[in-house]
Amino acid sequence: MKIYRKELEKLKVYKPGKPIEEVKRELGLKEVYKLASNEIPFSPLYLRDALTRELKNVSRYPESNCFYLRKVLAKKLKVCGEQIVFGNGSDEVITLALRAFIERGEEVIVSYPTFLIYEIQARIEGAKIRRVPLKDFRYDLDAIARKVTRKTKIIFIANPDNPTGTYLAHKEVEGFLRKIPKRVLVYFDEAYFEFAPNDFPRTAALLKKRGNIIFTRTFSKAYGLAGLRIGYGVASLEVAGILNKVREPFNINRFAQCAALNALQNKNFLKKIISYTQNEKRYLYRQLQVLDISFIKSATNFILVNFKKDTRSLYEYLLGQGIIVRELRSWGLKDFFRVTVGTHKENVKFIQKLAYYLKNS
Ligand SMILES: Cc1ncc(COP(=O)(O)O)c(C=O)c1O
Repeated sequence: MKIYRKELEKLKVYKPGKPIEEVKRELGLKEVYKLASNEIPFSPLYLRDALTRELKNVSRYPESNCFYLRKVLAKKLKVCGEQIVFGNGSDEVITLALRAFIERGEEVIVSYPTFLIYEIQARIEGAKIRRVPLKDFRYDLDAIARKVTRKTKIIFIANPDNPTGTYLAHKEVEGFLRKIPKRVLVYFDEAYFEFAPNDFPRTAALLKKRGNIIFTRTFSKAYGLAGLRIGYGVASLEVAGILNKVREPFNINRFAQCAALNALQNKNFLKKIISYTQNEKRYLYRQLQVLDISFIKSATNFILVNFKKDTRSLYEYLLGQGIIVRELRSWGLKDFFRVTVGTHKENVKFIQKLAYYLKNS
């Protein structure tokens, strides 16, 4: 007898990019470069003292409401502290929103292909998925607006998008919001916000005008804290209050709170990361052009590459050479792969191995 929930029967387990440790173990390699999960390649070692000091407190639970972090972040974002909901990675905020808002059978609009977690989590909550295809590798906002029905509860928008790296500008988003009824929650996932250009939406300002928005950001990408798991959502007081009701009380551990607080105060590290990433992304663009390989211009720290034929054997080859890129089969993009901008040394090796493969395959 099946005693688990019906929604889980057909659900596949989400496969993240392979970890470095796993590839080393499985292939017996000493040096492995991970260009698969859009992390930055530098750990914020300036946190060593702060995290060491925090060690003496680890026998105690962390603060449930992230008091100090909330205060600093609210000031930075110019919102009220109670509008912020912290998550164990911004991923968790997606789960919280679905758990809090979806009644079984209600509809969630997701684009396709985009970040897979929206659809997976929405299915778990028993939502009906309404998919809207991307248009020229961008979110098709007109088609999304047309897809809204009386049953629509949440619209997910990854901005910038993963895996395409494309983004929606302020004007586009502003016009789109006018077409969406206030009973629908528009969820902007801004995990790559720090890498995006100047005409990126000023989502906090849009939220001030309309209550039916939530936007999430993360410390996993530009701040280099993916291994500690901390992100947050910003919404109206009402929506944030509801999300806090379904949040596990100690979801943000002490090291994550301490690291995020210090990270917000270190503008230098962030600045260096953004400029390093932009330079290296340009290096990868140039080299891909030299190799005559198509790619989508990206507002993030990764690039979607159009390989124009099945990437399986390239993926296996690179893996054997100690380079992990992201296959996109689960996204329905078997002729594409995604590569994260790494250190210069990593990027050079990736290009060399790619060139070798092209010459010899
Ligand atoms: C679009 C998007 N949203 C959210 C996340 C999850 O980030 P976090 O580490 O904050 O859970 C990712 C991670 O790759 C992502 O690409």
